Amino acid sequence: MSDNNNQFGSKLGLIAATVGSAVGLGNIWRFPAEAQSNGGAAFLLLYIVCLVVLGIPVMLAELSLGRAGRADAFGTFKKLAPGTPWYFVGVFGIVGSYLIGIFYMVVEGWSLEYLVTSVTGALYEGVGSVTPGSNVEAADNAFILKMQEYISSPWMPMIYTCIVIIINLVILLGGVQKGIERLSNIMMPSLFVVLLVLCCVSLSLPNSMAGLEWFLKPDFSKITGSTIINAMGQTFFSLSLGMGILITYASYYPDKTNMPQTSAIVCAASLLVALLVGFVIFPAVSSFGLADHELEGTTLVFQTLPVVFACLPATRLCSALFFLLLFFAAITSTVSIMEVSIAFLCDKKKFSRKKAVCIAMLPLLVFSSICSLSFSTLADFKIFGMTMFDFLDSFTTNVLLPIGAILLCIFAGWVAPKHLMKNQLTNFGTLSSWVVKPVIFILRWVAPVLIALILFC
Ligand code: PHE
Repeated sequence: MSDNNNQFGSKLGLIAATVGSAVGLGNIWRFPAEAQSNGGAAFLLLYIVCLVVLGIPVMLAELSLGRAGRADAFGTFKKLAPGTPWYFVGVFGIVGSYLIGIFYMVVEGWSLEYLVTSVTGALYEGVGSVTPGSNVEAADNAFILKMQEYISSPWMPMIYTCIVIIINLVILLGGVQKGIERLSNIMMPSLFVVLLVLCCVSLSLPNSMAGLEWFLKPDFSKITGSTIINAMGQTFFSLSLGMGILITYASYYPDKTNMPQTSAIVCAASLLVALLVGFVIFPAVSSFGLADHELEGTTLVFQTLPVVFACLPATRLCSALFFLLLFFAAITSTVSIMEVSIAFLCDKKKFSRKKAVCIAMLPLLVFSSICSLSFSTLADFKIFGMTMFDFLDSFTTNVLLPIGAILLCIFAGWVAPKHLMKNQLTNFGTLSSWVVKPVIFILRWVAPVLIALILFC
């Protein structure tokens, strides 16, 4: 095990940290944006199918490899398949997670800006009083304008991006567990409660049912090749799969951790948050008539939620509370994303934790700052027709994560030492073994073929 001061103290803490890695902007920001542009319920349905068929088995493969290898992503493959080039999968994960970190920090910066402007009241300035029956559309337009103004100015997004990187750096310097583990224990349940309250408000808006129906009643004609790729990408993204993140976290798991149970909890939490966010956003979207607008998925949450808050009695307080929770959900994910590179630097290069954290985080200040300009100064700089931000988002999610997942499945199913999966899934025979056969079958025959078909056909 790495000597970088990361051990999960308790079962609850370990689950909270793993759920913390999974639940983040992927569920709250990315999921509604994807659902919005991929046909709503049809996307939701595919997402659920992908979670069960691909998500859980791939997660179990990562967790098993990580705990058996007891090293960072690179070291795990070196240990489990010495003398072979499979360590390349670890390198792939380290690079991929870093690329995710670059654009993720930008959105985390938006969350922080919304938190700050909720507290100061600037976000709600000039919007006037809003009730479910009146002024809703005007407020909606006002928030769309605010978001556009914010991201199209070069400085503020860059400053907030740098602030969140520094906050991540400080947390990572202290070691993940004490701060993050404890924080996750409080933050994650609070997030559920706040989302539940917001659901009630959103569903009480006039004409909200149309949005709910759109979100829950699948129109199968909406399913196309790209819907399926996006649903699969979203599955891997929302569970933090394919990039060695769970390998790294599982290397800190105690031997007695029940991994099938842990993975079921993480998947359920991730799905629940996405569903709740959908119940908040889409009724509001239809109530405000947003569905007819040219809607930018990327900024959907930041435009729509403030209108819902504006309908609440304690607008600023609720808004601040929500963006605080969103911010923490994002941080618990970014620390896991960065932990992959940091664990590698500590394990392989034998750097002290402090040095590893600085080497991993400081270049991000430059890369993420550049990425934050995708909506302003660099809006016309296109990679394959996309801004740098959109390119990083869709390339990592829809290409790198699935490729990482295929390689993991092949490794866990075919290459890893015999009985590794069985031993890890049953804790060397002490847990029930019914999951072993179906998981190995999926890892060998179903998941790699399915992912490759979806990706390349
Ligand atoms: N799962 C995290 C989220 O949903 C983000 C993430 C993606 C983390 C990929 C690691 C790898 O926000």
